[in-house]
Amino acid sequence: MSARAFPNTPEFTGLNTPISEEYELEALPVEGRIPEDVRGTFFRAVPDPAFAPYLEDGAAVIAGDGMVSAMHFGEGRVRFAMRYVQTERHRREVAAGRALFGKYRNPFTDRPEVAGLDRTVANTTPLWHAGRLLMTKEDGRPYQIDPRTLATRGRHDFGGRLRSQTVTAHARIDPSTGELFFFGYEADGIASTKVAYCIADRQGNLTREQWFDAPYCALMHDFTITENYALFPVYPTTCELSRLKAGGDHWVHELSRDSWVGVMPRYGSVNEMRWFKGPAGVFCYHMMNAFEDKDGRLQLDQCLANVNAFPFIQRASGLDIAPEDTGARLARWSIDLTDGSEWVTETVIGPPGDLPVIPASSVGRPYTHGWLLTMNPEMQGPPVAGGPVGAMFNTLLRLDFTGRPPQALALPPGHCLSEPAHVPSSQSGHEGWLLTVVDRQTGESDFTHALWILDAGNIAAGPIARVPIAHRLRPQVHGWWVSAAELAAAS
Ligand SMILES: [Fe+2]
Repeated sequence: MSARAFPNTPEFTGLNTPISEEYELEALPVEGRIPEDVRGTFFRAVPDPAFAPYLEDGAAVIAGDGMVSAMHFGEGRVRFAMRYVQTERHRREVAAGRALFGKYRNPFTDRPEVAGLDRTVANTTPLWHAGRLLMTKEDGRPYQIDPRTLATRGRHDFGGRLRSQTVTAHARIDPSTGELFFFGYEADGIASTKVAYCIADRQGNLTREQWFDAPYCALMHDFTITENYALFPVYPTTCELSRLKAGGDHWVHELSRDSWVGVMPRYGSVNEMRWFKGPAGVFCYHMMNAFEDKDGRLQLDQCLANVNAFPFIQRASGLDIAPEDTGARLARWSIDLTDGSEWVTETVIGPPGDLPVIPASSVGRPYTHGWLLTMNPEMQGPPVAGGPVGAMFNTLLRLDFTGRPPQALALPPGHCLSEPAHVPSSQSGHEGWLLTVVDRQTGESDFTHALWILDAGNIAAGPIARVPIAHRLRPQVHGWWVSAAELAAAS
């Protein structure tokens, strides 16, 4: 079998068909009017395997080599570029002309010649902080990317100061201090309970790194901060070293195990961590936000379900729970630090969905609204197949937490959309803009793609501008907006 002959499975067909091509498109056509505020670059992280795997791997979609995509708005035109992150893994496999690394996050399944090498594919979030563009994935350290050329500059370890072997793809930037708050789990190796909690100042210098033990080794995809606290949710998707050594899957979801939230003062010591118990068996990939309410309670808003939504993790766990039976909801967990309670209190504040977005200025603060992707139950026909969970979102919601009704933009059948990036407006009182890539299925394996620009406060009105992209695209994971001013100050 050729190294480029991919299996005829959902992970490698239809919208998920590997593209594996670096390219640039100049002067993209624009339909409509691009707002003045949209000046800068929309970066996206796109997993795209260069070579077919040599082992069956249900996690193949999120195991693909990281590509960084940039859509640049400026100088009166729109440009698009796509390049591989030159990870150690990608370079070794290109040199060999075939895959050398085995199953998702299981080094015991690798070819012997790559033993001990960096396994990360840096394919999850393009993170911008302190003038640096970092491509992140939670199983390793990030790679720094030149934001103009998309050339890979190398692994980023904060000038040699970082001890953790891993960095989350979901760091949080405080809107007032400009500090980067982040963590890394399995900080000293696979299946470890060690978690590193780190802060970098607004210049990007690592100022603090402390380690603590999670209640068990868990898939800790995201975390949150408030003005005074750091919150570390732990849900029971777990790892066992013995399973990995036997060639098994990294993750298994345990329905009977408790969930937890570790809470500590964000500038405090990990010795001050208090653990609050949540319901058993739940899982969340992405948190919308957290804040301290007027009574001093912590409020943690998250896209929660009663099981891990990834089909490959359910299969490894002996579970087969349909999306409509997962009890998915936008849940608010309230934590009272003063009344001696050991449990979180849950309130449902929104519908099922994922990939929540809020203005960067709202991070860690009481907030009035956010955006979320969901499925439209009224739509005609099945959702577009593709992406990591096998089905794409087709509806964008604007959720209001002040009592106003939600707004929806439901796409027609055969359409789907990716996580939007929020672009703030320079106009006071205007909610800014959302940029999202919309895929349209035109045949079994045929798709067209366009970037849509929406008025974030009036999404139901539909796009105010569209930028067709005349090239096949694979689904992204996360994206990041970087303004022209930030790009000009890039290091
Ligand atoms: Fe994520």
